[in-house]
Amino acid sequence: MTQKKRIGILTSGGDCAGLNAVISAVVEAASKKGWEIYGIHNGTDGITETPHSYEVLTVHNFSDSPWPRLSGSYLGSLNKGVKMESLEEMSKKFAQGVQDLELDAVVVVGGDGSMNIVSNYCKGTKVQVVGIPKTIDNDTPITEFSVGFQTAVQACTKAVDDLELTARSHNRALILEVMGRDAGHLAMHSALAGAADVCLVPEIPYTIDGIINKLKEIKASGRNHAVIVVSEGIKTESGEHLSNKKNMVGEAVYGGIGEYLNNEISKRYKEFQVRTNTLGHVQRSGVPVAFDRLLAYVYGAKAVELLDKGINNHMVIWKCGHVESVSIDDVVKEGTTKLNVHSDYVKAARNLGIYIGEC
Ligand code: F6P
Repeated sequence: MTQKKRIGILTSGGDCAGLNAVISAVVEAASKKGWEIYGIHNGTDGITETPHSYEVLTVHNFSDSPWPRLSGSYLGSLNKGVKMESLEEMSKKFAQGVQDLELDAVVVVGGDGSMNIVSNYCKGTKVQVVGIPKTIDNDTPITEFSVGFQTAVQACTKAVDDLELTARSHNRALILEVMGRDAGHLAMHSALAGAADVCLVPEIPYTIDGIINKLKEIKASGRNHAVIVVSEGIKTESGEHLSNKKNMVGEAVYGGIGEYLNNEISKRYKEFQVRTNTLGHVQRSGVPVAFDRLLAYVYGAKAVELLDKGINNHMVIWKCGHVESVSIDDVVKEGTTKLNVHSDYVKAARNLGIYIGEC
């Protein structure tokens, strides 16, 4: 028999489309069991800081509102925006917070970093923790899909389509710099879907000459324009990441590789005018596509099922069309998932003649 619980739900890390649908799914499924749901504000801050910041979520005030259909996070989120105190300090604050709020469980909607943090905070407490993966980077380990990725692919593919049309009008090679940090999933999926000419990802080395050879081939075929998709996390030819900022935990915020490529190509090849477009945070927003909402609903329902069964420290995953769960410790051990250079996506890109680098 279902035991009455009070659960907290929080979103952590960079936002993405589908977070509100996840929250709604958890609210719906948990309410059916007669549980109370506390929506925690601003990632873990709502628990660790005092006064604690949260609100009671119900089907009536949240799931029946327009929010589940919208992007962003209704609860707010933190993307490495806070300088962490020691793990011990933060764990103490977290334990005190969950005790003050009388939470039996916490659902964390985040990437592997957030899962790791919350799972560590909960160790040594009686609080159950279940994770739901989300990130436009799609690099959360073990699961095939994280919420938000497909909507980001859609946004990037639309940008490729739009750029192709204006490139065509002006005989240009247009560069599109997309997000993804150190994983090339977003760049590769959108370059393939948008039939771009070049796709550069962090997992595959490239040369400027390789790009120029592709542009020459396009020119020789009688076509006067090209679209180049580049992941923000690729390095320069001499092996440096480009970044002019650091986030609050000291990690480089990537940006600028598109402009670097523009300069290098333009110096050595004059047949196309080259321009750079950095897509930026629109990739994290937009109307969530159906698959992200579907994932959100099945993940949310599964998370509540796990909590009900007393399963602790697990993250829900999508594997070959099934929803399962794995230990968060295994997720953390695995490290972020890079683009598999032997995948069918990469093979297809190569076989379709997209220049993807030297492999
Ligand atoms: O991890 C998600 C992500 O959107 C990355 O693709 C990107 O590098 C980063 O977050 C941007 O972070 P910020 O929110 O600090 O601009």
